[in-house]
Amino acid sequence: MKDRFIDIFRSIYLEEGGIFIDTPAITPAKVFQASGHIEKFEDMAVKCPSCGKFSKIESSMKASGISNATISMENAKKLISESLLKCPLCGHPVSEVEMMNLMFRIPRREDQNPYYLRPETAQGIFVNYKLLLNQNRGKLPMIVCQYGKGYRNEISPRQALIRQREFFMAEVESFIDPDMEWDRDPDSSNAVRFLANSGRETLCTPAEALSSGIVSSKPMAYFIGITHKLLRRCGIRENHLRFRQHAKDELAHYSKDCWDAEAFMDDGWVEIVGIADRGDYDLRRHSEFSGEDFQTEGKKLPFVIEPAHGVDRIILAAMNSSYTKSDKGFKVMKLSPLISPYIAAVMPLQARDGLDAIATDFYRKLLALNSYVCYDESGSIGRRYARQDEIGTPFCFTVDYQTRDDGTVTLRERDTRVQKRYLMKDILSFPVLKNPLIMDDFGKINPDAAALLS
Ligand code: GLY
Repeated sequence: MKDRFIDIFRSIYLEEGGIFIDTPAITPAKVFQASGHIEKFEDMAVKCPSCGKFSKIESSMKASGISNATISMENAKKLISESLLKCPLCGHPVSEVEMMNLMFRIPRREDQNPYYLRPETAQGIFVNYKLLLNQNRGKLPMIVCQYGKGYRNEISPRQALIRQREFFMAEVESFIDPDMEWDRDPDSSNAVRFLANSGRETLCTPAEALSSGIVSSKPMAYFIGITHKLLRRCGIRENHLRFRQHAKDELAHYSKDCWDAEAFMDDGWVEIVGIADRGDYDLRRHSEFSGEDFQTEGKKLPFVIEPAHGVDRIILAAMNSSYTKSDKGFKVMKLSPLISPYIAAVMPLQARDGLDAIATDFYRKLLALNSYVCYDESGSIGRRYARQDEIGTPFCFTVDYQTRDDGTVTLRERDTRVQKRYLMKDILSFPVLKNPLIMDDFGKINPDAAALLS
């Protein structure tokens, strides 16, 4: 699923002219002194004297029935002195509060300066800005993308894929010249749910959000539209998706504005993509620390809009959006064919009488078209269909005794369970198998492909 997410991410950002790079996770301290992460990338943690565990202050507030989104150190200490903050794990009043840096520090033998594991891939892009701009022939806007592991020493990594110490990110840094008009128009066709930090909730297109002032910058409205398209391609349902603007006291140290794409999970809304307006913060700081000049011809620093995707969370949201049970109580993951682990499975009705040889040959031919196909010959055919339903494979092709006579196989469709016969040679020309991206942005097969499948 992660590979398939990357296919979606790459196809969308290659269309945007993105440059893809890969930089190291192990990073010298100097980079994070410049970026401000050593000083400011920290969370407030409370310690329980009874079970000895640390928890994030937000979890403790939730467990104590305090609904504020954020809290100052002073107020946290006051609540602790009144025994009003509880440990979310054992319920005992907590006794200490402290700020904890979220980066993993790697000591270094040769001198005083440690390394850190990167908490975001973004800094690898900022420190390579000059090389990248050169590669882009000095032209702005410049869109640079990177995916890979990020690491955060989370205080309480306790929500499965939602909060992990090692996680997979896909980040986009869009460098924009403040003297130039952003000339790509925000999407004006698809409505998105906006929740502004004023508390106002609106269903409108990103273009309308811009013209009505809900979103204040054109590139921000543009990237909200792109992110919405990407998440819908991942099969996250419309009613499971919204864009929420950060409150001022919630912004990361480098952000001027931030809209989170949030997905509805079991116990509430969870950030899956953060679209931050980082202004010129990073280039300014790196310029100060390195002495390099990053100014445009107009003697200004480019500003940056950054869609940062939490890939594990997106995958979890896609699964959450797709989980159903059949009338017999079997699990059926109705995943978009763009994100499912496999797009098709090939199976012989029986693993004998030459059916297995035909099925294997057909499987190999499909594999040459699309690497996301699998082969299964073990167990009853009903059991094999159930196995594929459970992991969300949209199509199963079954080779049976009729195949030996006329070269047709059955195609079983996951969501309708309808079975129809097709010639194997026709299936090998189904556009959806050659290029699943012929699906539209809303996870439906486009009309040409639908005609072939009907
Ligand atoms: N680069 C954005 C983030 O770390 O969340």
